[in-house]
Amino acid sequence: MDERLITSSMTREDEQIEYSLRPRFLKEYIGQRSVKEHMRIYIEAAKHRGEPLDHALFYGPPGLGKTTLAAIVANEMGGNLRVTSGPAISHAGDLAAILTNLAPGDVLFIDEIHRLNASVEEILYPAMEDYALDIIIGKGPGAHSIRLDLPPFTLVGATTRMGLLTSPLRDRFGIKEQLELYAPEDLREIIQRSAEILHIDIDPEGALEIAARSRGTPRVVNRLLKRVRDYAQVRGNGTIDLETARAGLDMLSIDELGLDAVDRRMLLTMIEKFGNRPVGLDTIAAATGEDATTIEDVYEPYLLQLGLIARTPRGRIVLPAGYAHLGYAPDGSEGSQQRLDI
Ligand code: ADE
Repeated sequence: MDERLITSSMTREDEQIEYSLRPRFLKEYIGQRSVKEHMRIYIEAAKHRGEPLDHALFYGPPGLGKTTLAAIVANEMGGNLRVTSGPAISHAGDLAAILTNLAPGDVLFIDEIHRLNASVEEILYPAMEDYALDIIIGKGPGAHSIRLDLPPFTLVGATTRMGLLTSPLRDRFGIKEQLELYAPEDLREIIQRSAEILHIDIDPEGALEIAARSRGTPRVVNRLLKRVRDYAQVRGNGTIDLETARAGLDMLSIDELGLDAVDRRMLLTMIEKFGNRPVGLDTIAAATGEDATTIEDVYEPYLLQLGLIARTPRGRIVLPAGYAHLGYAPDGSEGSQQRLDI
């Protein structure tokens, strides 16, 4: 089993925990204030008109609550949620089957929507625009298409890669909302809510410590909470206070900024192997043995947000704060501070 705490995908344990911890209505959803405020207005207006909500696209790094928001849209609108993903729909017929089985007011959630193939995407255009399914009957000169009506529904798409969406698909979403990394205060609230649901004893300082090391991501916060609970149970007195949180997170090699060994290896590789000349994503991936997509979706956004690296037109570079974090002087010479083990 993959023991990593930071990944773009979910283990079964995560899925189960996430499911039990997931807020079901907007008023329970912590953080993402502007997204929440916009959605509250759009949902209320659509309900008032007695219409389905316009199609919505949520984008941003993994683990920030895109699936949760789709479920909230369904709950708030009083419809059922149907869940699928771009890679799961390989044929146009698969999507046609899903669409024809929808009931009026249903919310169809397509995760990783940038991974739909072109023939599947084409089915989606008339479905989104006119609630219609165009089916081609026959082949060659006699072929013709018939149009089936679909029930009014809302498509909620999620992607970590807005840039990979084709423009015809992007343009068919009336609502586009970007999810951002969470502030530590919001994550602290999420931990305390999760701890209450899971009957974990944690004090506010312990919660803030885990929050500050969770790279802005609720999925990571909930995972770290469970691992630190284990630590508190075996090595402490069962309560997660500041000291236990620190010790538990140190054991997991998550440093005080929330970086793990992969983040640190990336920074170190850029400095030591490439002398901090601008370097491309694929080169970093090859040199660190990590997957380029994971670096771009999971590692890079957080390092950028912390101001430890920058993206330049010629490639990625480490910024002075990145040097300082690893214990180097900004000119690249080894500073007085001891470098962190990786
Ligand atoms: N659990 C995971 N994400 C959450 C959020 N944004 N609000 C409340 N609970 C959560």
